[in-house]
Amino acid sequence: MEEFCEEEEPPGSTPFLRAVNLERNLRLKKFFIKFEGANATGSQKDRISKLHVLRAKKLGYRTISLATCGNYGASISYYARLYGLDSVVAMPQDYSHERSLEIIQNGASVIELPGKYEDTVSAMRDMASDNAWYDSSPGSSNSDLDIMGYEKIAYEIVSQLGHSPKYLAVPVGNGTTLSGIFNGFVKMYNHGSIDSLPALIASSTANGNPIVHSWKKHNKKIVDLNPSVLRESSINEPLISYKAFDGQMALNAIYKSRGYAEYVSDEEMVMYSRTIEQTENVHALPASASTLAAAVRIMSRKNDESECVLVITGRNKLWTTQ
Ligand SMILES: Cc1ncc(COP(=O)(O)O)c(C=O)c1O
Repeated sequence: MEEFCEEEEPPGSTPFLRAVNLERNLRLKKFFIKFEGANATGSQKDRISKLHVLRAKKLGYRTISLATCGNYGASISYYARLYGLDSVVAMPQDYSHERSLEIIQNGASVIELPGKYEDTVSAMRDMASDNAWYDSSPGSSNSDLDIMGYEKIAYEIVSQLGHSPKYLAVPVGNGTTLSGIFNGFVKMYNHGSIDSLPALIASSTANGNPIVHSWKKHNKKIVDLNPSVLRESSINEPLISYKAFDGQMALNAIYKSRGYAEYVSDEEMVMYSRTIEQTENVHALPASASTLAAAVRIMSRKNDESECVLVITGRNKLWTTQ
């Protein structure tokens, strides 16, 4: 496995807090927030973007490319500019493009392509190979770095909490973030530094994610959705997909953890994002507030008052426009 010297360590060391006001407001017990929105460009993607940019440079590439709903594009273009690479960022043309201005200001070339997110990933895969660009899209030959980058979230949670939580709620799109975090927990467990694995709660957008769909159907093998059923919105863009690039890994992780998967509506995501903001002054991206909605629903159904860590993966516009 590739080694990174200390100054090339992935970003992170994000805040971890006990959400006491949220607990009081929603009558919950022991809820914690791991706030990935505190990363430089506002999401967990920074943890992997820096690794990709550094690998691209090391391999002699001059341009790094990717397909994105927006957050990853903001992150890759930021680190590309920081380390002197050109970046090409492609988005589905029907997406909301809330982060396009920022991506352009980072010096990236922005391409809008017809079709779904997965079509954009596949088109960019071809373009990267034709133009000798480094491909940092999900599911690329470089995606080992994604798992490596996200594992660190698990190490930080255990060091900040002091042990492994009973529940860990993570929003899923491609399932990469969840898989990487769980890998970190498994490594610690195998190493003997924790004595249990958290039960994962995977949250995603209603009827728009193959990981949640497959888990609900009790499938051991991930099943793609019919693209025509997807209803993209500015709220669910980070999570919606008909094919999850790391879906099988994420599904395996949910089963191995004896965990759960839950669909959450746009309205609930917005409502829980506001609740987190009003109670804890943490500006959670609505898609990532799906974790709270899912955890509340699952744990109250089981009448379980154990501790739960929510991985809040992004901050909302309130912060990104400041
Ligand atoms: C803020 C945010 N949270 C969660 C996700 C979903 O992560 P993954 O695709 O790794 O499952 C994304 C994906 O773009 C995202 O931007």
